[in-house]
Amino acid sequence: MQHTVHDFEAAARDKLDPVHVDFIAGGARDEITVRANEAAFGRLQLLPRVLRGSAVRDLDITLLGSRARMPVLLSPTAFHKLVYPEGELATVRAAAAAGAIMIASMASTVAVGEIADAARATDSDAQLWFQLYIQPDLEITEALVRRAVDAGCTALVVTVDSPVLGAGERNRRNGFHDLPPGLRCENLVDLRDGERGHVRQIAMSPELNWEHIDWLRGVTELPVLLKGVLHPEDARLAVRHGADGLLLSNHGGRQLDTVPATLELLPEILAAVAGRIPIVLDGGVRRGTDVVKALALGASAVGIGRPVMWALAQGGEEGVRRLLELLRDELDDTLALCGASGLADLTPDLVRVPAWAP
Ligand code: FNR
Repeated sequence: MQHTVHDFEAAARDKLDPVHVDFIAGGARDEITVRANEAAFGRLQLLPRVLRGSAVRDLDITLLGSRARMPVLLSPTAFHKLVYPEGELATVRAAAAAGAIMIASMASTVAVGEIADAARATDSDAQLWFQLYIQPDLEITEALVRRAVDAGCTALVVTVDSPVLGAGERNRRNGFHDLPPGLRCENLVDLRDGERGHVRQIAMSPELNWEHIDWLRGVTELPVLLKGVLHPEDARLAVRHGADGLLLSNHGGRQLDTVPATLELLPEILAAVAGRIPIVLDGGVRRGTDVVKALALGASAVGIGRPVMWALAQGGEEGVRRLLELLRDELDDTLALCGASGLADLTPDLVRVPAWAP
């Protein structure tokens, strides 16, 4: 039985092909940023308030018009069928049950329309978002956007930190370049000729620039979040180019190695956008206390990547459900211990940087 987020990883490692474990756990180059993300949360301290009790705690959020029952999103992760036969269908059912927003990856192994249908069939009002890599061929990009809109997705997350694919040296060493036979990137199968749905059909765009964001603003009315903006100057540019939000992310340390932990960047990015757009943070979130720290410092929500893959591998829909329940319980518990009756009570004074080094 899994009692912490970390337990899912241990269970999944027992089940999965070690090559796939490396694909999920790994990062770019020396994986310095992978480790930094989690470590940053451990370095901050919580300083709780007492005697401000409340019998129940409100965990609901509304983010760019999407309502959710918890401030933890499922960040986009590719290839769910690699770890569990039903793939993204199992994940979205669990997200819907928890009332959590799932961001479907453009590199999903179930088409976004089918993921959305599975979510709707649960009768939950949980929202589905779609993650996009802008393709050099803008017609294909537009077709993908249209597909997300038709599926009923309520926001687009455009990943901008991947002009080229990050150097996952574990994957190189393992020779992991393709999906196993039978698995495809289903959003792409009928959009491009050639190797239908092959991972190679997801093109990275080294030529991507701000004009592409302006172009995208013109082809959709959905809220657009940029994922992977790290420099405060880029955060200001994002606002100027009409981004509706930022997903502050270093891709879980899978793109440029040695960039700072996202938590460390949060104050600078918040200062740069000055309250004009919401910031969601991902990278290293593993505990309810992590969620509270990020929200107390000013993030509107957080995202989780690897934990979802581990939980899916361990127990399919049931595994992801349990993962989200665990995180929700930890979050609720942490709020109570901090004297908070809801997310609105999370203020920066609850978080401290240690005043002295032991
Ligand atoms: C990812 N991530 C990712 N990001 C994205 O924009 N599109 C994608 O298709 C993927 N795919 C993907 C696969 C796997 C296996 C992982 C681990 C990650 C990055 C993801 O959205 C997120 O930013 C990080 O995973 C967050 O860090 P943690 O929670 O994994 O520490």
